[in-house]
Formats: sequence, structure tokens, C-alpha cells
Amino acid sequence: MKAAILSFLRNSAGEVSGEVLGKELGISRVSIWKHIVNLRQSGYIIGASPRGYRLLSAPDLLLGCEFPELGKKLHHFHSIDSTMDTARELIESGAEEGTVVVAESQNSGRGRLGREWFSPQGGIYFTLVLKPKIAPAYAPRLNMMASVAVAKTLRRLLGVDARLKWPNDVLIEGRKVCGILAEMGAEMDVVKYVTIGVGINANFSIARYGTKVASLRDLKGEKVSRKDIFNSVVKELLRQQSLLTKGELLEEWKGLSATLNREIRIETPGGEITGKAVDIDSNGALIIREKDGSLRTAIAGDCFHP
Ligand code: BTN
Repeated sequence: MKAAILSFLRNSAGEVSGEVLGKELGISRVSIWKHIVNLRQSGYIIGASPRGYRLLSAPDLLLGCEFPELGKKLHHFHSIDSTMDTARELIESGAEEGTVVVAESQNSGRGRLGREWFSPQGGIYFTLVLKPKIAPAYAPRLNMMASVAVAKTLRRLLGVDARLKWPNDVLIEGRKVCGILAEMGAEMDVVKYVTIGVGINANFSIARYGTKVASLRDLKGEKVSRKDIFNSVVKELLRQQSLLTKGELLEEWKGLSATLNREIRIETPGGEITGKAVDIDSNGALIIREKDGSLRTAIAGDCFHP
């Protein structure tokens, strides 16, 4: 209902009376008033005059009422330890496919390989729950799917040359702006659920982390719309799910790759590999040609673009 009221107020040139709102939405004026009070408590500035209500400003928060298509599947938190953990808890209590946990900041955001993920206010942090009917062998493709979804969104909305660094970082001008962490619950031959965590350095300064990382605001020189980016990435992810077992996804990843066809170094659990990245296989593993011409495959690890 709050989403419907907001949409009405946003699309009206002047004030809208409680009576009109109530009639249009099929609820009483008193109920409208209660929702208005609630919206104000969430940070919306809504003017009221004898002629009616007018939306004066909206908070820069990823609240459920901003994304009516996600409805009750969106769980918004101002501050949380990690959206990954909350998503897992929700799964344990029966959360369905498409559930999204989003936080304005995280106290213990985590990255790949047990690292910390810097998660101050102004970033975009969310975890999407999927229950794809695929074999666990396809799971690495979820990372690819997510990084493709983010890169496509940033290219379309911000006009930037977003590229992918294997296995799943999104870079702009060679600097990391987004990281992806996918976790999975599976039996031997079937995936039960996947949680895809996306962290985007949006509207805060990250200069103290050096030149390998950047925020969208610093790169663009102005604030970006977190709402538009979040909405687009989630939609793109839900849409791309059907491509998980198709070759198209690999082709999209390759087309956006900053890693392929360049000299790289990879630190894998089994040691270091250096050489030219020549391809990725159907499971997302990177194929590297070493100096002596031999081909090596990296399934996991940290990739460096010297
Ligand atoms: C990486 O590049 O190391 C992956 C970073 C993933 C960060 C996101 S932020 C939302 C979700 N919650 C977390 O604790 N981590 C992921």
C-alpha cells in the first residue's frame, strides 16, 4: 500500500487529497493517514495542506516500498552483520526463491576467501536467494551471471566501460567497484539453494584503500542512484537465471572480460600460475598458457592484472 501511495504522489503534479487517495486505493482516509505517518517515520517528507498531501522528498534508502515488484520478498535493514547470514537464516525458516536481503551498511560484511568487505553507508549490499534446478557443477556460473548483471547495469545506467576480472570482480578503469560472493547449499547431485551476495562501492569514498579499488561516486564525480542500480541488478539476475545452463552466459562474460588475452598471475590454493589468460571453460575455470606453451586451468584463486 505504501508503494501505491508513493507512486500516486510521485505521479501527481499537485496535492492529492486523502479522500481521492482512499478512493483510488480502496481504503479509508484514516488508513491513508496511518500510511503517511509511517512513510514519514521512514524518512519521506510529505507535506499536508487542506488540499491534500504532496511528496517533497524521499530518503536515499533501499526500502521495500521503492521496489513494489519485489514486494514482501525484500527484507531491508539499516545495519546488519552480513546480508549473507541473514539470507541463510531466512532460508532456514522457509524463504522462497527471489528473497532479497538488503542492508544500508554491514558490520561484518565478508568477501571471498574469508576477507572482510568494507560496508559503510552509501554502498549497495544485498544477497539474493535463488533455488535453481541445476547440478552443483553449474554453480560457478552463478558468480559469472552476477558479475555480468552488475557490469551490464553499470554500463547502461552510468555509461561506463565496466569490465570483469576473473573470477567475478567488476572493474571500471581497472579498479574494483563491485565484488560478488556466492554460497550454496547442495546435495551430491542437486543444488538446494544459492545465496548471491553483491557489494557495490557506490556513494562513499574509498580512496584510503589505494588505487586498485574505487567507488562509483569518485569515478563519476557525482552521486549515483543506488535505487536504480539495485533495481536493475536484481531484475537482471532474475532474468538471467534461465541462461545458467546455456552457452550465451559464457559468451557474455567473455565479451566483458578484462582478464582474457592478457598476461596475468594467479594465486591458487595449489600455488602460483603466470601466463596469458586464453579462455574460460564451460564451468568458468580460467585457462592460462604458460611461457613454455603448456596450458593450465585455474578453478579458484586470486587473479592479478600486473
Ligand atoms: C569479494 O569480492 O570478495 C566479494 C564481496 C562480496 C560482498 C557482498 S556485500 C553483500 C554480501 N554480504 C556480505 O557479507 N558479502 C556480500
